[in-house]
Amino acid sequence: GTKLIIDTDPGVDDAFAIALAALSEDVDLLGVTTVFGNVSLEATTRNALRVLQLCGRADVPVAAGAERPLIHPQPARAVRVHGADGLSGRASALPEPERDLVPGGAVRLLVSLLEAADEPVTLAPIGPLTNIALLLAAHPDVKAKIARIVLMGGGVDRGNSTASAEFNIWSDPEAARRVLVEEDVPCVVVPLDLTYRCAVSTEWLAKLAAHSPIGAALEALTPDYLASYRRSLGWDGIVLHDAVAVAEAISPGILRTEAYPVEVETSFGPGRGATLVDRRRPGMRGEGEGAVAPSAVQVAVDTDVDGLGEFVLG
Ligand code: BDR
Ligand code: CA
Repeated sequence: GTKLIIDTDPGVDDAFAIALAALSEDVDLLGVTTVFGNVSLEATTRNALRVLQLCGRADVPVAAGAERPLIHPQPARAVRVHGADGLSGRASALPEPERDLVPGGAVRLLVSLLEAADEPVTLAPIGPLTNIALLLAAHPDVKAKIARIVLMGGGVDRGNSTASAEFNIWSDPEAARRVLVEEDVPCVVVPLDLTYRCAVSTEWLAKLAAHSPIGAALEALTPDYLASYRRSLGWDGIVLHDAVAVAEAISPGILRTEAYPVEVETSFGPGRGATLVDRRRPGMRGEGEGAVAPSAVQVAVDTDVDGLGEFVLG
């Protein structure tokens, strides 16, 4: 199966995404690294350990990474969406982890897992990109071991934290720019435009809860999250952003992608944290006129929404 490492800031949708990979028979989950984001690093790390414990996967090594962005402070956490503890106030209902973190931190674990891998590894960052920027900046040699980076982040026509910025990018735009624009690693970006189209209903959640005890435990993490999505969706459902990205990491091609040049806005205007996806036709981009070729990333634009829902349901 695909060798995978998840970098995460759980987060309700992160919890679903971790469980999807942890329980998949198609995946060899080599490790999980944590980052600040939805809540503090301390809380995201504890949540990641608990979700793996729930899934019977205490064998997956976990290391804690960045507690804040590279350069500027994080504008805000997402406690209004995910609850004060990151899991709708229900984190303590999950099993207590019975093991320790890998010492030395996230970047060191990423380097050692990549170096030891006998085939290229997929990285699935589903939080701010701080750990990944640090990894690529400090250890360019491991890039050869990265098959692709499949990340949840950005928006083509919309934001969620601001009109144009998506939360993961907005939380550390400089790190996101390093990964998406400055580095030559193959990236798949799973933006809000697609994740919103993959929203799941409360009926879907009820099916999940009936499916297995783990499904029931995941569903029990959703009340605060559901309350916040009622406002943005206008109906009873939630958006499992990170699970959409991890589905693609597990099952390449489950999302349809198109290659576009991407930039990340790092200025301090109202567009800070926006991803600028250049959908002009190549002839309009000034290529061939001495312009520097912009870096292209694969942007996920479409999927079989019902099929994806079934895939995540397991
Ligand atoms: C992203 O932000 C976080 O709140 C979610 O976990 C997801 O990674 C969606 O914008
Ligand atoms: Ca996340």
